[in-house]
Parts: sequence; C-alpha cells; structure tokens
Amino acid sequence: MSRSIIPFNRSSTIGKEFQYIAETLLVGQIAGDQTFTKRCHALLEERLGVPKALLTTSCTHALEMTALLLDIQPGDEVILPSFTFVSTANAFALRGAKIVFADVRADTINLDETKLERLITPKTKAVVVVHYAGVACEMDTILAICAKHKNPVIEDNAHGFLGTYKGKMLGTLGPLATLSFHETKNFTCGEGGSLLINDKGLIERAEIIREKGTNRSRFFRGQVDKYTWVDVGSSYLISDVLAAFLFAQLEGREIIQAKRRSIWQRYDEALRGWAKEQGVQVPHVPKECGQAYHMYYLVMPSLAARTGLIAHLKEQNILAVFHYQSLHLSDMGRKFGGKAGDCPVTERLSDCLVRLPFFNDMTVQEQELVIEGVSSWRSQ
Ligand SMILES: Cc1ncc(COP(=O)(O)O)c(C=O)c1O
Repeated sequence: MSRSIIPFNRSSTIGKEFQYIAETLLVGQIAGDQTFTKRCHALLEERLGVPKALLTTSCTHALEMTALLLDIQPGDEVILPSFTFVSTANAFALRGAKIVFADVRADTINLDETKLERLITPKTKAVVVVHYAGVACEMDTILAICAKHKNPVIEDNAHGFLGTYKGKMLGTLGPLATLSFHETKNFTCGEGGSLLINDKGLIERAEIIREKGTNRSRFFRGQVDKYTWVDVGSSYLISDVLAAFLFAQLEGREIIQAKRRSIWQRYDEALRGWAKEQGVQVPHVPKECGQAYHMYYLVMPSLAARTGLIAHLKEQNILAVFHYQSLHLSDMGRKFGGKAGDCPVTERLSDCLVRLPFFNDMTVQEQELVIEGVSSWRSQ
C-alpha cells in the first residue's frame, strides 16, 4: 500500500486566522494599512525593538524598497552572497547595480566575512547579508569592515525572524532589513514580507516609496491637508486580509517556535551519528547565534549522493528538496562576470545541499518516517 506523501512544506493555521479574516470582512476594510496591518507593525516593532516596520507584499518587494531608499544608481556595486535567492540580487539589478558575488562559509553557509573586504571598491554602495536558515552571519566582523568603508549593511532576513546574534535580534543590525512571510517561512500569510527600518532618517521616505511615491501616509496622519506625488515609488502594501492571517501567526509565535525547535532538535539528535558515518555535514550554529529554527539541511558528499538521497526518499513518498543554484553561474550572474570557480563553496553547496521536510504541524510520526528514510540511505 502506498503511503501518503510527506511534503517538503505544508502551511497550517495556528488558531485565530479565520476569526481575524472574518473581522476584516465584517468591518469592510480590506485594503492596506488597516487595523491588522497596524497591529502587525506594532507587534514587529515591539518584539524586535525596531523604530519602524512596514508590511510589504513580499520580501522581494521589501528588498526593492531598500534599493530605492539607498538611491542605488546604474554602475553602483552591491556585494551579496552567491548562495541566495534571486530576489536578494534582483532588487539591486533592477536599479542598474552591478552585482558582486561573495562566497559563503562552508560551516554556516553565510557570507564569508574573511573574503568580504577584497570585494569592496570605491563603487561599492551596499553589502547585503543573508542569515541562512535563520543562523546569523559573523556580524561584528562584517559591520566593522563595512563601517570602515562607509557601506551600509542590509540584512536579508527572509529566514531568520526571531533569530539573534550575541543577544541582538536579527533585522536590527544595519539601517534596513527585510523579512519574508512566504508560505515556506516559519510565520506566513501565503505571500508577504516586511521592511524593517532602523535608520530613523529613512522612515518618511520609506512610507512614500511604499505608497506609490505619494505622501499619503502623512495625509492620513493629518500632517498635510492633501496628498500628492512627491517621489518615485510603487504599490508595496499588503491587503489587510493577509495581515489578519499574519497577525494570528505572529501572536502564536511562541507556540510555532517551540514546535519548530523540537522538530529541528529531533532531526539533529537522530541524524548526527548517521551523518558522521556517511560523511554528511549537518547544520552548524555558532554559540553566539540564537537560531530561528527555519530549516534542517544536509550537505551530501557529492551531487551523485544528493541525487541518490532525494530519489531514495521519493521512493518512500518523502519530498526533500535542494536549494539555491549559484547565482554567479546563472544567465544573469554571468552577465555580471560570474564564472566557474569564483565561489567554490557556493558551487559545492548548490550541488550537495538538501533540505528535509519541515513545517509547523509536522507530526512525530511523519518526522520518524523521514528520519528512517534518511538513515537507511548509504553512500555506494
Ligand atoms: C534569502 C531570501 N531572500 C528573499 C526571498 C524572497 O522572499 P519572498 O518570497 O517573500 O519575496 C527568499 C525566498 O525564499 C529568500 O530565501
């Protein structure tokens, strides 16, 4: 008898999503910046200690807002890890920036701080870091290098809401940071994101950019008597229906994180011994990092081993997936001069990393099946 599929991801509700969505419908206010968007802003600002959080339609759009806020111009250089999602780069490429690809560390899979400074030139306008799997980059070193060269550090914190570095919340370490609330993230509303603004001098312009280049936010606060077109911008507001869903998830953050912590720890305890025997790398969390329990991944010894493990799990109806393909070797990356050998660690991870099923309502039985499936795999 064939077993039902264990997906890589399955979205679930925490409790009050339906009630809150019903409230927005009953009140009849479902556009952006209504009650639930404001509640989400207040919760994010309070929990993270950021001066301003603005919900956006996605993390991609929040990243686009950072590129506009930094006034990135054609020819400016932006340094970011090659092992990341396209949006980290695309947001800046859209403004005409030259993307400069940095390699990542083999242990944390985060931008390799020891290779950063040599990439900085007089044209560098920003460094974007990604806290992969919600484990912080080596931020003290990165921030010191960037301060020396007067480059802002943008945190693409798509994976790491509630993660910490030396006790500080991720998303609070540079002038701007972004979050993702896509379906695959710990907290979701299907599609959504947030811009976090730590540099208070950028708040007013961020509100304008998010409101199609108008000063509508000031108008609603009664600070101007009519609103008008004052800058470039776009429509980055999320519907209050989605904000209602998200608010329920954010309110349930302790429950969600406790579940994810136990899933992560169960994988780690069960698979460490097998991984050592098979020459497989498991996630490394430096002691100064409080991780966000976003992902459990394995780095297999070769592409053939990864293909073999994914196929082995698929035979048992378990869907494990690989992750980013080296951006510097993509069609767009090559246009920025990327070539094989530029980022060797990234190239190996693109071939060898596999992510195991991991979602908020994963049952112990489901996880046991994944663990059995993985530990029954042997390299040839
Ligand atoms: C590191 C990183 N940045 C940005 C994004 C884009 O997020 P969104 O789907 O919310 O636009 C992702 C997507 O998973 C991501 O992994």
